Amino acid sequence: MSVKLAIVYYSATGTVRAMAERAAQAGEAAGAEVRLREVARQPTEGEREATPDQATSAGADHAPAVTADDVVWADAVLFGSPTRYGNVAGQLKVFIDSLGPQWGQGLLADKVYAGFTASQTAHGGQESTLLALYNTIHHFGGIIVSPGYTDPLKFVDGNPYGVSHVTGANNDEPLGQPQLDALDHLARRVVTTAGRLTGR
Ligand SMILES: Cc1cc2nc3c(=O)[nH]c(=O)nc-3n(C[C@H](O)[C@H](O)[C@H](O)COP(=O)(O)O)c2cc1C
Repeated sequence: MSVKLAIVYYSATGTVRAMAERAAQAGEAAGAEVRLREVARQPTEGEREATPDQATSAGADHAPAVTADDVVWADAVLFGSPTRYGNVAGQLKVFIDSLGPQWGQGLLADKVYAGFTASQTAHGGQESTLLALYNTIHHFGGIIVSPGYTDPLKFVDGNPYGVSHVTGANNDEPLGQPQLDALDHLARRVVTTAGRLTGR
């Protein structure tokens, strides 16, 4: 039986989606059964103003809409969120906050978790976003498997808390090889660790 990896993301303008899709490919290459799931896009007025051409109306037409069962099902969960004021996007947080019943039954504990994010600026709060996400994981009783500097490639992308990408002034900088490598590494790492924990 394979490790079950859920990749749960919110993305207004596609960057975090591209990161999630890469992580999904890497998870499958590492032998996991992968569920790629999107938090239905509900762009706020601010998102529409910031990115009028890209932010779309509600609807999850890129990946199936996430449900609580996707998290309960998984042995490992990767959460992806754009950075919002140095924090997790409200849309993803609303989904996480909907998991109270599952949390209450202990169904979110003992899984492997990690995260990835994107921001427009280099010092715009990527690390604080990931650390804020991980506050929740402590409450789950989850096992945070951060990448650290466990591979030489982590000295290139430079984020030991997860994976992150800077979208730049026009919010359209594509993922570079360091980010792609770091996503591959993170997905492999969570799958391998979850495999050791579950015996799968
Ligand atoms: C309301 C709002 C808050 C944002 N806050 C930050 C921020 O704190 N730091 C930053 O660098 N970029 C910030 N951004 C830019 C987004 O983080 C950036 O566009 C993100 O990488 C887009 O991801 P996506 O393409 O997956 O939606 C913000 C954008 C919006 C709309």
